[in-house]
Amino acid sequence: MTREAADRADDELVILGIETSCDETAAAVVVGGRRVLSSVVSSQVDLHARFGGVVPEIASRAHVELLTPVVAEAMLSAGVEATDLDAVACTVGPGLVGALLVGVSTAKALAMVWDVPFVAVNHLEAHLHAAFLEEPDLQLPAVVLMVSGGHTMLIHWEAEGRYRLLGQTLDDAAGEAFDKVARFLGLGYPGGPAIDLLAMEGDPTAIAFPRAMMSSGYDFSFSGVKTSVVNHVRKNPEVATADVAASFQEAVVDVLVTKARRAAAEVGAKALCIGGGVAANSQLRERLLSACVDDGLQAFLPSRAMCTDNAAMVAAAGWYRLRADGPSPLDLGAEPNLRLPVA
Ligand code: KG4
Ligand code: ZN
Repeated sequence: MTREAADRADDELVILGIETSCDETAAAVVVGGRRVLSSVVSSQVDLHARFGGVVPEIASRAHVELLTPVVAEAMLSAGVEATDLDAVACTVGPGLVGALLVGVSTAKALAMVWDVPFVAVNHLEAHLHAAFLEEPDLQLPAVVLMVSGGHTMLIHWEAEGRYRLLGQTLDDAAGEAFDKVARFLGLGYPGGPAIDLLAMEGDPTAIAFPRAMMSSGYDFSFSGVKTSVVNHVRKNPEVATADVAASFQEAVVDVLVTKARRAAAEVGAKALCIGGGVAANSQLRERLLSACVDDGLQAFLPSRAMCTDNAAMVAAAGWYRLRADGPSPLDLGAEPNLRLPVA
């Protein structure tokens, strides 16, 4: 591939995406916001596992070591050179400040050296754009349930670039609840996949854990169910761990699906999507799919690779932002508390 002109058609723009907001070091090359030429993700999960969660300082140091080789691999496997790129897009927030800074400084330096625009990307908007990478025909308006270790949000995606936050967690994120319950049950980190697996052997109706605020509004609360699990196990030390895992998962999934479905009906959505690490949960996927079939909605359940942090989604969102707003200024810094841009 050779870069001919600065005025390439939008759908031919080649963008390098960079993601370092948490514990994945990632780089990807995407053409026209849709066609993924490469997507490299180096997970630090093993580095953080023995601490039972992400340690910010360790994450930043690992990003420093990993980012250059990850970018090189993404460029190499995409078959592109610096002269082929039209922009460098990078997550500037939300996330861990030290981790973000590694990506932001690198992206700005590369953009400057390669003389291409730098594009600041909102990590949450990037998660939404992951949908288009696997489902170019995704219909808007859609309701998106974004459930990760750091976020639990219900978003009304009205049109490209127009979002409305319908509700969010008032305490723990859904993934955080999975991780904390798994840690209490001695299942290791990250807890979501461990609970998902063990729950397959358990009875989801064995214990009636609370479903906070299930029938009111679109906000969530997961700290109550977590405390209930702890209290139940302390009172009933003989209880089967698989039953606890299955009943806990059922309670969380019940709340997520009930609210997402109600939101989709209320805003007149055509599609229901999920994103974030918890979107890999098998029970959540099954229940959402059957809700969509029942309600006549287009269901979009991205692959696990697209649900979790990656840089292809950053390049895709960067492509959209470059066309909508133009390049970002080079004096822009990391923004750890960035929110979803609401219209
Ligand atoms: O989006 P993500 O990879 O990282 C951020 O939080 O940004 O999400 C990680 C979260 C963890 O809390 C993990 O336990 C959860 O997603 N998770 C799951 C499953 N796979 C990952 N939760 C429930 N079921 C799963 N299968
Ligand atoms: Zn994320």
